[in-house]
Amino acid sequence: MTRPKHVVRPFDLDRDERWATDWLDERLGGRRQARRGEVIDVLAAGLGFVAERRGEPAGLLTYRFDEDAVELSSLAADPRHGGIGSALLEALVSAVAAADRHWIWVVTTNDNLDALRFYQRRGFRIGEVRVGAVDRARLSIKPSIAGIGSYGIPLRDEFELVLDLRLEEPAKPVTA
Ligand SMILES: CC(C)(COP(=O)(O)OP(=O)(O)OC[C@H]1O[C@@H](n2cnc3c(N)ncnc32)[C@H](O)[C@@H]1OP(=O)(O)O)[C@@H](O)C(=O)NCCC(=O)NCCS
Repeated sequence: MTRPKHVVRPFDLDRDERWATDWLDERLGGRRQARRGEVIDVLAAGLGFVAERRGEPAGLLTYRFDEDAVELSSLAADPRHGGIGSALLEALVSAVAAADRHWIWVVTTNDNLDALRFYQRRGFRIGEVRVGAVDRARLSIKPSIAGIGSYGIPLRDEFELVLDLRLEEPAKPVTA
């Protein structure tokens, strides 16, 4: 029997806060994330999933309840393209269904082509495009946001994506 390359377990704030803070600093500009015109601490709710490879962190997803929906507040995998992001998203979808919610939203940015692909291939739809929202956040609530993002693309706009679990086959890549 082959061993799985990674395992997914619930995030535990007491156990995981220190490395998760460093992880978010290195990959997503910190645990304080700006979106929808405000900054949130994505670890504050203490909710999420951790992927481990050989006992070491290899992925982190955080989420929070938002009225009758759930915000996927951060997601990063390292290494990438090995199925870790998909496994973490599947864990979230199961948790959301178990909590009797059906609506997940996530905000990403115009430069993040990998994330836009990843989410749309897994059933998310574009809910809203906020032109200039990242520029405004940089000027007001989070000056540390870089001017240039992934692929050398100017970092300017927010894309909000939504997954309605009642409509979509959850979290599996869409095949052509
Ligand atoms: C977005 C992100 C979390 C996706 O995580 P990931 O672990 O790379 O995702 P997966 O490996 O599950 O899927 C990515 C692709 O790799 C492919 N893949 C999966 N296993 C693979 C393997 N063994 N070999 C090669 N490719 C593989 C998948 O088919 C998938 O492609 P698809 O989208 O066309 O289906 C990751 O790109 C990341 O950490 N980005 C930086 C942080 C970030 O921007 N986060 C989003 C903020 S909103």
